[in-house]
Amino acid sequence: MFAQEVYAERRRKLKAEINSGIALFPGNPEASFNYPANTYHYRQDSHFSYFFGINHPGFAGLIDFESGEEILFGTDFDIDDIIWMGDQPSVADQAAEAGIKTTYAYSTLADWITKALKQGRTVHYLPPYRGKVMIELGRLLNKAAHEVKAGASVSLIKAVVKLKEIKEQLEISEIEKAVDVAWLMHTTAMKMAKPGRIEQEIAGTIEGIALAHGGPVSFPVILSVNGQTLHNHYHGNILTEGRMLVVDAGAELPSLYSSDITRTIPVGGRFNARQKDIYEIVLKANVESIKATAPSLPYRDMHFIAARTIAEGLTSLGLMKGNPEDAVAAGAHTLFFPHGLGHMLGMDVHDMEGVGENHVGYDEETKRSDQFGTAYLRMGKRLKPGMVMTNEPGIYFIPALIDKFRNEKKFMDFVNYDKVEQFKDFGGIRIEDDILITEQGHRILGRPIPKTVAEVEATAAETRQWIKMNGIY
Ligand code: GLY
Ligand code: MN
Ligand code: MN
Repeated sequence: MFAQEVYAERRRKLKAEINSGIALFPGNPEASFNYPANTYHYRQDSHFSYFFGINHPGFAGLIDFESGEEILFGTDFDIDDIIWMGDQPSVADQAAEAGIKTTYAYSTLADWITKALKQGRTVHYLPPYRGKVMIELGRLLNKAAHEVKAGASVSLIKAVVKLKEIKEQLEISEIEKAVDVAWLMHTTAMKMAKPGRIEQEIAGTIEGIALAHGGPVSFPVILSVNGQTLHNHYHGNILTEGRMLVVDAGAELPSLYSSDITRTIPVGGRFNARQKDIYEIVLKANVESIKATAPSLPYRDMHFIAARTIAEGLTSLGLMKGNPEDAVAAGAHTLFFPHGLGHMLGMDVHDMEGVGENHVGYDEETKRSDQFGTAYLRMGKRLKPGMVMTNEPGIYFIPALIDKFRNEKKFMDFVNYDKVEQFKDFGGIRIEDDILITEQGHRILGRPIPKTVAEVEATAAETRQWIKMNGIY
């Protein structure tokens, strides 16, 4: 946990945003895996953690926007719990660490909420994303569980996004530490990506690195020679020469802050000519759009810098044709780059996505596009200093999408389908960095992770001695 003043200040800022009603922040309960007592790794709700700091189950926080009161509800442990779990801090002690003086038994929370509702007060809450929390909010608010989400408070959502989208210095340094763990994960994957290995050997090893640093991974590892599938979690393929391995993986620290990095590695450690051609285009899209990243610019502009770079590169290779600018305006690049440039990063790897992407990445000024591909851009609005963004362009050859567009005669003026057919066995390439928006422009966070062709090849070449030294099989 950070110092108690950090949480007190965040709650003070929240109270300055809303002046009536109460906010209810349910902490996450345990989640069962295959029977009730066998639970997943415990993960606190990021919003609860942001305002109350306690990363244990069984709590709810309440903030009264009129009286200014802040209350933590929890359940003290009894001797049976202590036998199994060891000595545990009291609710009051944990509350004190978050700068909260008032605590009550969790069992009294329903009475508090009922009383507030009877008085006609608004109970603000964020949209829940876990079934158990939906059921609990339904019980507390006297609503059917399926109606709970629709009743979430837009004013609370907006206030929370306004605060959390600007990262404090201590949050930035946590994210930076998480990127440093990702450095080890990705350089390890580069050294392991040799013909004959099974993807799961590498996926398991890098997940272990996150765990060894306090873990877990910040999202299920994406690691595949079929990188054309954007979020590929199947890890059973054997690596063969000529394939590209997409590794999209990050670490979550005990503070819950995360990293989200992608590198693409030629199996065997050396790019062939065709891989190099495509890789250099993705790299240029990443580098050029990062170069242009600065406060007050809409992130959608960075997305289109990457899109244009991709269209220009593919045109020079003969995979696209015509004027690249016109191709992007028509949306032809989305055949190869069918997703957005990036998203906010924080405690959630897609930061605050649970409150609704349009509340986080868009606003009155910037509305989400409905064009195929561009519609997946999670963040389009203007950047501000203190925001942390991912930058993750990619080029993918998705056979089903190529067939679909060709059959529909889409973008015939801009796509050279005969040549594209020859790349159906290529896979995909994505490169992703985590970027802080600064007053002057931007800064790539963390220890630089090999990214150029020469850097990736050099890292992969260290393999034998490095694996021996580190005892990795
Ligand atoms: N890790 C998923 C993503 O890059 O958005
Ligand atoms: Mn990623
Ligand atoms: Mn990402």
